[in-house]
Amino acid sequence: MRVTASAPGKVILSGEHAVVYGFPALVAAVNKRCQFTFEGENNSAFNSEFISKYSSLKQLFKAWKNLPTTKEFSLDSQIPVGRGLGSSAACSVAVSAIIQQLSKQSINLEFINNMAYKLEVLQHGKPSGVDNTIATYGGFLWFRRESPELSIRQTIVTAKKIDSLYLVDSGKPAESTKDLVMGVAERRQANSQPSEQIFRQIEETTRGFLRWMQGQESNLVELIRINHRSLVDLGVVGEKAQQIVQTIEKAGGAAKITGAGGVVKGSGFLLAYHPDSEKLRAIVDNIDLKLDQLQLGGEGVKLHE
Ligand code: MEV
Repeated sequence: MRVTASAPGKVILSGEHAVVYGFPALVAAVNKRCQFTFEGENNSAFNSEFISKYSSLKQLFKAWKNLPTTKEFSLDSQIPVGRGLGSSAACSVAVSAIIQQLSKQSINLEFINNMAYKLEVLQHGKPSGVDNTIATYGGFLWFRRESPELSIRQTIVTAKKIDSLYLVDSGKPAESTKDLVMGVAERRQANSQPSEQIFRQIEETTRGFLRWMQGQESNLVELIRINHRSLVDLGVVGEKAQQIVQTIEKAGGAAKITGAGGVVKGSGFLLAYHPDSEKLRAIVDNIDLKLDQLQLGGEGVKLHE
């Protein structure tokens, strides 16, 4: 049996980190995908117990590849790894879709999403589940984790085509998502008041983004700027990224991280916007960085013939 599945990466428009604590996030699938192919024996041993034996996606891949029943095994991802674009979640979702196919179950997105969440827990400790959920369902989602067992998601239909957002690479973070999420948790535990205030501010901004997507609010520059400041206050944005954002802001634009961020070195990809995209391109060129146009709202997980 030969099966291929792919799933998209993501950008969090607003709500990263706060979403771990039950605040909402607004997230979009991107046009970069992780594709996974397996050829080998169709084996009913591939189920959630099979994956729970391994403590990372890497270990699972290694074990899988070395099975005598595996003929072909390939992972082909267009999503840069560890840079805030949901690479591990997209690959976890593609893998979960294959496991579901191999265990002879009919395609069930809920099942794939739950299995991918388990893989994300292995990778990241205590993820909110927003990354695997957008990789499974695609499009634009409003997501909120209500309790460890319950999360809600709602597909958002945009009032306009969103084609003026760009990515700028601020460099690979030295920390993992797990480290960054733990850092926020430690600061919150030491002094919960400021963190709660920042999370509430982030929620307000996330609601602003929702209104913007629904055509009821126009000041995207201001929303991204406020969001960036909240993330700086949370302590997840490094010096380098802050400097890039400052340069973009000075020229009338705005930018923010797209995922967990990074402090010591880079903070991963930044989501950048300027009402005049050509101006944004000139600013980014000027600091020797590359501007990558984003197509948002991509298709969720799919099986390929
Ligand atoms: C990472 O893409 C998003 C975080 O909010 C972590 C999570 O939601 O699990 C930083």
